[in-house]
Amino acid sequence: MTHHHIALIPGDGIGTEVLPPAQRVVDAAGARHGFTCSYTAYDWSCERYAREGAMMPADGLDQLRDKDAILLGAVGYPGVPDHVSLWGLLIPIRRGFRQYVNVRPIRVFEGVESPLRAAVPGEVDFVVVRENVEGEYSEIGGRLNRGFAEEMAVQEAVFTRAGVTRVLDYAFGLAARRDRRLTSATKSNGIVHTLPFWDELVAERGAEHPAVVWDQEHIDALAAKFVLDPARFDVVVASNLFGDILSDLAAAVAGSIGIAPAANLNPERDFPSMFEPVHGSAPDIAGRGIANPLGAIWSAALMLDHLGHRAAADDITAAIAAVLAKTDVRTPDLGGDSTTAEFTEKLLELL
Ligand code: NAI
Ligand code: MG
Repeated sequence: MTHHHIALIPGDGIGTEVLPPAQRVVDAAGARHGFTCSYTAYDWSCERYAREGAMMPADGLDQLRDKDAILLGAVGYPGVPDHVSLWGLLIPIRRGFRQYVNVRPIRVFEGVESPLRAAVPGEVDFVVVRENVEGEYSEIGGRLNRGFAEEMAVQEAVFTRAGVTRVLDYAFGLAARRDRRLTSATKSNGIVHTLPFWDELVAERGAEHPAVVWDQEHIDALAAKFVLDPARFDVVVASNLFGDILSDLAAAVAGSIGIAPAANLNPERDFPSMFEPVHGSAPDIAGRGIANPLGAIWSAALMLDHLGHRAAADDITAAIAAVLAKTDVRTPDLGGDSTTAEFTEKLLELL
């Protein structure tokens, strides 16, 4: 029987509440599809930072290196600056394991009310592919003259031919397996060096993928179209910052950020990939047992797909669709009054 060794990093806040449901769903899917998983859990979090001065140990990446995949809840908590929690854990894992593609699927499910009248269930079904290791989220820059009137901050965006090309190739390949439509997010009218370069590389890679019809939109207009006509998209490819913003917007279009999943992929499989819901640690509802576990569960389905269990992943997304379409069991963010545990039971029943 196939066996996988999974690293679990629940993190902070509701991260610790949504990972156990995801783990149960993975085990249930495994029992049906003939694979097993063992888990090693890590307490890396803001709590650990407060206790020991670091989000994870110095050899953290080495502890994860031999795992088949990483399932992460969320990190961040009031009292620890967000750039500390992000740069102390998530970003080192994404970069150290060359997880240069961030895949964020968006679907409006039947039974979930989108805030948009135009978002018809079944019609809105697209994927944001975000560049995940360079671009605007760069360590290059600095601060000068702190505390003086001439104080300044400089941050350089870094776009490399290799880095942009590989994420574009992933996105075009994904579009070729879906509806063969790709939209590139740009802003080459205002940002005159990096984004014209991005556009050139899109045209170059597009020529290598003739089956895919592609276009490009400036990020401001694209944001408006996500709201006005979300059904028009199939694969949207974007730089690190643009993809981050677009995928939260898209998650809101889908009805709740609590549903949205993400995969941080190292497509070459030289390192483990990491799967995590898009949402954060939600300190406003943490500890009450009402977090929506769907983002974590769907992320676990993406993990199983990556590990070669497509049928198991499809079963899980079908169970998600079924619980939303056929029952009124749902957590408060989706207008229901069920707890995380009640919702998970119902989903397992349908699985
Ligand atoms: P958030 O996603 O934690 O919460 C935003 C809003 O959505 C809140 O009202 C929250 O209650 C609600 N929400 C989020 N997930 C939900 C779920 N599964 N079920 C029900 N409601 C849900 O974003 P926020 O408040 O901006 O950030 C809180 C902390 O999380 C910060 O420290 C931030 O840095 C961190 N964060 C971490 C991320 C990660 O680990 N990947 C991503 C985003 C934020
Ligand atoms: Mg984000």
